[in-house]
Amino acid sequence: MTRAEELENRLRLLVNFGGVVSKETNLTRLLELIAEQVRTILNCDRCSVFILDRQTNELWSKVALGMQHTEIRVPFSKGIAGHVAASGQTMNIKDAYQDQRFNHDLDRLTGYRTRSILAVPMKNVGGHIIGVFEAMNKNGVNFDVDDEGILQLISSLAASGIENAQLYESLSKSQLETIYRLAVTAEYRDQQDTAIHLRHISEYSALIAQGLGMPEREVENIRYASPLHDIGKVGIADAILLKPGKLTPEEFEEMKKHTVYGAKILCNAESSLLQIACKVAASHHEKFDGTGYPARLKGEQIPLYARVVSVADVFDALCMPRVYKPKWDTEKAHEYIREESGKSFDPAVVEAFDKVYGDILKMHAIGDGKTTIIPGITKEMNRHNSY
Ligand code: C2E
Ligand code: SIN
Ligand code: SIN
Ligand code: FE
Repeated sequence: MTRAEELENRLRLLVNFGGVVSKETNLTRLLELIAEQVRTILNCDRCSVFILDRQTNELWSKVALGMQHTEIRVPFSKGIAGHVAASGQTMNIKDAYQDQRFNHDLDRLTGYRTRSILAVPMKNVGGHIIGVFEAMNKNGVNFDVDDEGILQLISSLAASGIENAQLYESLSKSQLETIYRLAVTAEYRDQQDTAIHLRHISEYSALIAQGLGMPEREVENIRYASPLHDIGKVGIADAILLKPGKLTPEEFEEMKKHTVYGAKILCNAESSLLQIACKVAASHHEKFDGTGYPARLKGEQIPLYARVVSVADVFDALCMPRVYKPKWDTEKAHEYIREESGKSFDPAVVEAFDKVYGDILKMHAIGDGKTTIIPGITKEMNRHNSY
């Protein structure tokens, strides 16, 4: 390539980079994307993005170890990255192992051999440092002045995307908490153990979805959408919902409307997560053989998310005491789920339930209920926030 061609090529890649970065709102995926683009644009072997956590004064980064991603944290001011974050200066190092400031921990962890490093600070529009970009091992030669300029440019383009994703993340976290509080409010009337029940539904549904081999993204959707399945119970009168004995047929007809109420509450929402929650609320009492309510849907007409939640819901309802019935043994409940395969439930979902049953029992055993809103929800949100 001539120099002119190379510059043009880089320009094209940079323009593309801006477009790619502005679209991705999930922080983890965004960071992966950025690293991949930097490797292409700078023709280097590796790229690490360190983000400054002002609360702990650490720099964190995701590192790929085989197929796994691990989050690593280093104290602010340690290593080349720390030096750049503290000084705000770009560093272009030809041989990292000759530099006292180089932090060997990462190479030890990954088995990687760093040679050259180009490290630039990542500043937001306000000029504050929010992290550090490192490009490693330029193919063949050392990083040059052009590379420095380009990485600085990339870094400022990425900064706004990263800040945006962080903002988005905290936003959906608080939105999700609001949703959970709403779900708890709706249900606490008929169950003292609402928080545990909702947590069970959430975890069981996610486990079953995993057992079915659903993509991770969908597993997370169901994890967060499933606890809303009974939100329509807010519309059911106490006299029915809290009746200590068996419902009359008329009362049960009224009770069935909680599915329709739930769908009405959720269906106008814009978020895709709430759209899924709406389908689940509408269809979690449909039965695979078409004898359920409210629409008598059959088989695949019932959204898969709802077929999954239905099994989780009934299993947990059986294993918990209700005003109208004592709790069942888990073994008896498991037996019931199996018997209903092909009748109430999708056989494939029951099979997945069987597969993950060991983990479900473990979850069932945790029911201390002291925790408020589904524990782990905020932690989990780091990975899955793009609703
Ligand atoms: P829930 O108590 O959370 O129960 C959810 C689902 O679990 C039920 O949906 C049913 O499919 C299953 N389930 C719960 N307990 C039993 C049981 O003892 N035997 C069997 N075979 N299945 C059980 P379903 O029947 O559509 O009921 C929906 C909701 O209506 C229940 O939610 C509960 O809130 C209410 N409900 C149902 N039957 C009665 C009743 O006899 N008395 C009262 N007070 N409420 C009832
Ligand atoms: C350093 O910043 O000192 C090294 C970090 C790395 O190996 O990525
Ligand atoms: C539940 O309380 O989670 C299940 C009850 C129902 O779906 O009506
Ligand atoms: Fe229900």
